[in-house]
Amino acid sequence: MKTKIAGIEFDSYILNASGVLCSAWKELEEIAKSDSAAIMMKSCTLEPRKGNEEPRYARLPLGAIQSMGLPNLGYQEYLRFASQLKQYGKPIIASVVGFSSDEYETLVKAFQKSEVNLIEVNLSCPNITNESPIAYNLERTKEILEKITNLGEKPIGLKLPPYFDSDYQSQIAELIKRYKISFISSINSIGETLIIDPEKETPVIKPKKGFGGLCGEYIKPIALANVRRFYELLKDDVFVMGVGGIKTGRDAFEFLLAGADAVQVGTTFEKEGITCFQRINKELNEILNEKGYSSISEVKGKLKYLCTP
Ligand code: DHB
Repeated sequence: MKTKIAGIEFDSYILNASGVLCSAWKELEEIAKSDSAAIMMKSCTLEPRKGNEEPRYARLPLGAIQSMGLPNLGYQEYLRFASQLKQYGKPIIASVVGFSSDEYETLVKAFQKSEVNLIEVNLSCPNITNESPIAYNLERTKEILEKITNLGEKPIGLKLPPYFDSDYQSQIAELIKRYKISFISSINSIGETLIIDPEKETPVIKPKKGFGGLCGEYIKPIALANVRRFYELLKDDVFVMGVGGIKTGRDAFEFLLAGADAVQVGTTFEKEGITCFQRINKELNEILNEKGYSSISEVKGKLKYLCTP
């Protein structure tokens, strides 16, 4: 069940999502040895960061809420990790976050000269104090795209926030089409959500008075809608990676019908551990076999519509 993202071959449809258990060398090595189709690294910044105060991540019945605050080792470390990960022979994906367009430029330039295969530019971190995700602002997004899209030959992708409005999706898609953007990853966690523990009478996480990004099964319908919409708007130009609530092979199959070229798994990886990639892969293969499909491309985007008989 091979797939391709921007000319890079993936041995399967399932890879890890940035953010979960992909910051430290040991974690990345474990992903390298697993059934994840690629090695996605934690979003990195110019300088190392400790991140927000704990508790900053809480499991929930159908997902999680987090306000990690970008804890990472700094981009220089991920450049080194990429060269060490090359021996595993699977695609390596850098994820970068800048605090200005100049920082985005520096980060993308550095990874263009590295061993990574793809660069995911994260324009959707919901946990930077007092800032909404960059990709909710067309002007700021354009300013960054101007600076990062002509720095080298490695394919660039954008990690997008969830959109709740089709006009806005169309405007972002138009902007993406004007620049050399090869893929999108849709969606990031839903920012500015709040979970309250009624017994303690407090939020479940500490940073930002409890406000954080919602992940997991709760957000799957929003992720599917964004993937479908962007597939319709961009399918001839841009590859789509689906993210948000993928727990089973059936979830992955739904994203495939919606138009995703691959899916990224985050919250389920945190809850279940490294074996989730193999399990989801197996479940997806079983569904495809049962339905008589023999490739990803045969099904991709082929959602059928209800019609009156
Ligand atoms: C963090 C969270 C995100 O959803 C993201 O895209 C990047 C970073 C974080 O808080 O570390």
